[in-house]
Amino acid sequence: VSVEKPQDTWLVAAYACQRRSPLPNNNQLLTDALETLAEEAHFCGHEGRSLAFSRASSVLKALPRTVRRVQELDSLPCLGEHSKRVIQEVLEDGTSAEVETIRQSEKYQAMKLFTKIFGVGVKTAHQWYQEGRRTLDDLRGHPAQLSKEQQAGLIHYEDLNTPVKRADAEAIGQVVREAVNKCLPGASVTLTGGFRRGKPSGHDVDLLITHPVEGQEAGLLKKVIACLDQQGFLLYHSIHRNTFESLEDSDQEPSSHASSMDQYERCFSIFCLGDLPGDAQEGAGAEKPSRVRRTSGASRFWKAVRVDLVVTPYSQFPFALLGWTGSRIFERDLRRFAKREKKMLLNSHTLYHLEQKTWMSAASEKEIFQHLGLEYIPPEERNA
Ligand code: CTP
Ligand code: MN
Ligand code: MN
Ligand code: MN
Repeated sequence: VSVEKPQDTWLVAAYACQRRSPLPNNNQLLTDALETLAEEAHFCGHEGRSLAFSRASSVLKALPRTVRRVQELDSLPCLGEHSKRVIQEVLEDGTSAEVETIRQSEKYQAMKLFTKIFGVGVKTAHQWYQEGRRTLDDLRGHPAQLSKEQQAGLIHYEDLNTPVKRADAEAIGQVVREAVNKCLPGASVTLTGGFRRGKPSGHDVDLLITHPVEGQEAGLLKKVIACLDQQGFLLYHSIHRNTFESLEDSDQEPSSHASSMDQYERCFSIFCLGDLPGDAQEGAGAEKPSRVRRTSGASRFWKAVRVDLVVTPYSQFPFALLGWTGSRIFERDLRRFAKREKKMLLNSHTLYHLEQKTWMSAASEKEIFQHLGLEYIPPEERNA
């Protein structure tokens, strides 16, 4: 929670999960600069440094108005010397020489280009860079060296790097909802990720699937994918099975190193979203998507869209919803706050009290915030 004090300084909580970060970011110029530094550090494998810049950026997102003078930052947490120096530069000159140098560097540009390919992480991108590759065509020349995922990523590169609009996300949600209900009546589909935080566009569509009768969701994903595939909606998909062992049934404690990846059954996919010219005449449902087979490159009525489908048992749904709504910094700080301040382990499946050695169940996100002793922050204010 940030409160503006009369002497023109702000009180901002140290953990992102204690702050309200609504969407209009009043300090875009500053946060863009800091996020470039965070990205550059990430590209170099300097995760601690990267996180520090991300945290600095996140703090500025919680401010109720634009920063004008560097002195206004004195009361703020998470701002290191380096971040402050860059902020000062941008405030004075409108730009930071260090940031501009990074943005224009060959390495940053190649890393950026490569990591924007679906299925390519920093490690692979860096390896390609070391091998002297610089362009997408350099990669297209060696398709055998690419995973199936990366090949699909290259084919659909342009589409997948065009922001997905909310209307398209809702339409895909509806298509998935229909398929899910055909396979298992009573199951629900929830739009999560950035769209749940109120973002008008995003890089993908994140959907959570569950059923109020625990156990009913088992085997559902395969059926849904088959159904969607049969209708021609899928350009690419890969299913990853559930690897979560019910710890409540064992004597084991959950592992304390926070794995960034949860263990739900999931599908990373690329949808074919399009409006057939004929479909528009079908009436009110102009937003209703329908697939169009790729014919020629000339005029297309379809677009490739990344979609993440995740299936969760009902009892874990609130944890999955909280974990998949983001933002990434908000999630990181929720877990860090739980561990350091409450001696609890939070992940997208459960909450575990390390000292009482008990599992804390929750029927809603609000209950999870309550367990953690945190004020409830609605999704629209989790844009940390
Ligand atoms: N997430 C996760 N495990 C993954 C991928 C993502 O738990 N393997 C979580 C992330 O922590 C994030 C949320 O799911 O909070 C959504 O991830 P992502 O789609 O990458 O980001 P968005 O916030 O939705 O941003 P965008 O609009 O760019 O998609
Ligand atoms: Mn997303
Ligand atoms: Mn996603
Ligand atoms: Mn995949």
